[in-house]
Amino acid sequence: MALLFTLDPRLTPELRAGITALWTDVSNAGGAVGFVPPVTAETVRPAAERQFAGVAEGPDRLLIAQEEPGGRPVALVFFEDQRFNLMTHWRLLKRVMVDPAAQGRGYGSELLAEAERVARGWGLSGLRLTLRGGLGLEDFYARSGYKEVGRVPGAIRVAPGDERDDVTMWLDLR
Ligand SMILES: CC(C)(COP(=O)(O)OP(=O)(O)OC[C@H]1O[C@@H](n2cnc3c(N)ncnc32)[C@H](O)[C@@H]1OP(=O)(O)O)[C@@H](O)C(=O)NCCC(=O)NCCS
Repeated sequence: MALLFTLDPRLTPELRAGITALWTDVSNAGGAVGFVPPVTAETVRPAAERQFAGVAEGPDRLLIAQEEPGGRPVALVFFEDQRFNLMTHWRLLKRVMVDPAAQGRGYGSELLAEAERVARGWGLSGLRLTLRGGLGLEDFYARSGYKEVGRVPGAIRVAPGDERDDVTMWLDLR
């Protein structure tokens, strides 16, 4: 199924609820998007609203993918601006996620390809992201051209005694 991508969709209450529900489902399936399961929409909502505020008030941007017009997003990514005048030439990708029911169908790769197309259209020099080690995510991003450029050992404590590396990846667009 071809995904429908929308850059900067209108952040209606329905879309905010749909994204919060997606984020909750992804977290409960073990996804590395800021939480450790179990979580409810109430747990996720404050983080989601902070992320929405960066888009609604600027300068961040949001890319969503739907399977049908008006449907709940099945995948999304935020482009975070560093709000620092020496770092305006790249963006930080945040909250890369695909609906657990739709993972493994190539949507994640399509999402990264669309994010890259958008970033090139803006004339950016690169895309950066951080990931939680121990889940194989380095390989997922490497398939789309991202290179590991940094790793802080054990910087993410998902549970007492379970510390994961905080890995930084970079896609050079120059
Ligand atoms: C990571 C994620 C976005 C991948 O999306 P997806 O739609 O399942 O990925 P795709 O189907 O496009 O997979 C593309 C390729 O990457 C591989 N891949 C996907 N997830 C992987 C993982 N966690 N580890 C290693 N390889 C992975 C696939 O096997 C596939 O390889 P192939 O082309 O040889 O078949 C998705 O699993 C997800 O939302 N995870 C939870 C949230 C999360 O952890 N996000 C990362 C934040 S840093």
